[in-house]
Amino acid sequence: MPPVHWTDQHAPKALDRILNRVMHDLSADISQHPQIWQDFTDRVQDHWRRLFSLLHELYGWQYDFFYHLEQIVFTAARSWIDRPAYLKALDAERIKQPDWFQSQTMVGGVLYVDLFSDNLARLKEHIVYFKKLGITYLHLMPLFAVPHGDNDGGYAVSDYRAINPDIGTMDELAQMAAILQKEGIDLALDFVFNHTSNEHRWARRAQAGEADFQAYYHLFDDRQLPDQYQQNLRDIFPTVRQGSFTWNEEMHKWVWTTFNSYQWDLNYSNPDVFRAMAAEMLFLANQGVTILRLDAVAFIWKRLGTACENQPEAHLIIQAFNALANIAAPALLFKSEAIVHPDEVIKYIRPDECRLSYNPTLMALLWEALATGEVKLLDYAMRHRNRITQECTWVNYLRCHDDIGWTFDDDDARAVGIDPVGHRRFLNDFYTGKFQGSFAKGMPFQFNPNNGDLRISGTLASLAGLEQALAAENPQLIEMAVRRINLMRSMMLSMSGIPLIYLGDEWGMLNDYTYLDDPARSGDSRWVHRSRRRWEAREDLTDADTLQWRFFNEMVRLVGIRKNLPAFYNGGLEMVPSGNPHLFAFVRQNQGQRILIVNNFSDHPQSMAADLLASIGYGQGGLDLIADWQIQTEQPLDLDAYRFVWLKPVQK
Ligand code: GLC
Ligand code: GLC
Repeated sequence: MPPVHWTDQHAPKALDRILNRVMHDLSADISQHPQIWQDFTDRVQDHWRRLFSLLHELYGWQYDFFYHLEQIVFTAARSWIDRPAYLKALDAERIKQPDWFQSQTMVGGVLYVDLFSDNLARLKEHIVYFKKLGITYLHLMPLFAVPHGDNDGGYAVSDYRAINPDIGTMDELAQMAAILQKEGIDLALDFVFNHTSNEHRWARRAQAGEADFQAYYHLFDDRQLPDQYQQNLRDIFPTVRQGSFTWNEEMHKWVWTTFNSYQWDLNYSNPDVFRAMAAEMLFLANQGVTILRLDAVAFIWKRLGTACENQPEAHLIIQAFNALANIAAPALLFKSEAIVHPDEVIKYIRPDECRLSYNPTLMALLWEALATGEVKLLDYAMRHRNRITQECTWVNYLRCHDDIGWTFDDDDARAVGIDPVGHRRFLNDFYTGKFQGSFAKGMPFQFNPNNGDLRISGTLASLAGLEQALAAENPQLIEMAVRRINLMRSMMLSMSGIPLIYLGDEWGMLNDYTYLDDPARSGDSRWVHRSRRRWEAREDLTDADTLQWRFFNEMVRLVGIRKNLPAFYNGGLEMVPSGNPHLFAFVRQNQGQRILIVNNFSDHPQSMAADLLASIGYGQGGLDLIADWQIQTEQPLDLDAYRFVWLKPVQK
């Protein structure tokens, strides 16, 4: 960054000039709505120095930097003027209460509209269901216009302003956002900003030979640079394709394609790209999206000689988007999707970058603990890795539309006596059912023969043993699977952060193997947990006798308990020693309330000693809010296989 005094001097000067010109261009609107303009200029003043220095650092070397700066402010002003009144009111509310999302009443849900309800119109019918589950933020998986056939489940976007016509229209989406907001549900959408599809208008114009649009992407005439870059890149989808570059016959050029060959990486060193994507972002915000999931954040900046992941500029770009959002759509929050090493995940989590972040380390380690029945690695990692600033929060999840990757830190593993390489092999064997005695039924995802890497697909229920137990028609095994599922939910709902339910998991959806018959999907095992099966739409939502009903009811109950506990307001999580390698214990504390959570990851009864309980304030016993029973004074805590408690201390 340039020295502070330089910014001090030049930032205000630049803003003065720019605002004069923007004011001139928008004079008709401004004279009609002077207050709206006033609000805008106030907020620009507040965030300008930050935005200016970020953009200057990223693009200051461009001869036409000032032009880009002006266009960016213009886009922000235009977008603010166009922003619907209800969203402006929400902006004002959230500026006043910036910690709103930290509440224990926050619960997320995520679904594919086409799989869940066919289309947006019918999604409305399910709002009652979302409310029953307690959902306060709903993430609709990418529903934009995409290429026919293979489109990476919607992550190859052809137009950020158009909805896939099979699903609905942008107007319907905007209406849906307003309806949800009235019902107390925030709408979350993806910002797939690392790449577009090869059918996006920019990619088409690039293919037609337009130099300006070729500069939107990373293109190469020959293999010279690609070969140099390639030496340090990892293959994300190695079974589909080796290498990160795709030959394009029309242009006679190599295109950088980190993911699939039809997903073209955008070139953020070009300020046109930043500007164009900023406009798309603000457009989405004005449709009523208040949580934006920043997809594949790690990959947006390339640097020769590096893995081209988590580069410092990736952070600067997100910070610049953040500053713009603060100016033109202050209610908008960013959620980071960085499924990378825990040291890198943390770096995206800061108020001026992403307020929310997926917690992939917790997710992977929960599955690790379930497989081993031991909590040492989970415990070790959570003690020193889970802490983030109080102004941000984790999004805790068990399953999502993607695979499970074992992204724990190797040194963490070694510190607790685990060989990381062998352990990953064990986990993969365990979850693909190769390991003798494993309860899990998962599918291998993206085996890489060069380094042995493998990830896992499957639903919560199938991975936790339900599929196998049902096939065996064994009531005891079924009971164990049910307990495992509930244990995992207890963890998701009680760790600090916002729980995120992958819809289907609330009723115990099993793996769906029908994708194997679809040539556009059969090569991607993630479809095994992206199913069209619907339970919530069926009449038997009232049939209390089914396993589905039992799962759903328990979910509703747990969510209800969570929402009533001020101790679960974000922050304050203190790990406590359980004295037992199978018990994971921690305390949540807030507003004078204290809750001890103990989870038994073993398939045998386990116990936490009375003196340990006493040492953390439970000497007089405790009341379990889950099963509504009391442990007595100076008694140990005995937990049956996979049982958990949320204990309130008893004061005598
Ligand atoms: C994200 C998505 C994943 C997709 C990838 C490429 O990681 O979650 O489903 O394949 O980005 O867009
Ligand atoms: C990689 C990426 C992650 C993506 C996943 C898709 O792990 O880091 O962003 O979700 O691949 O499988």
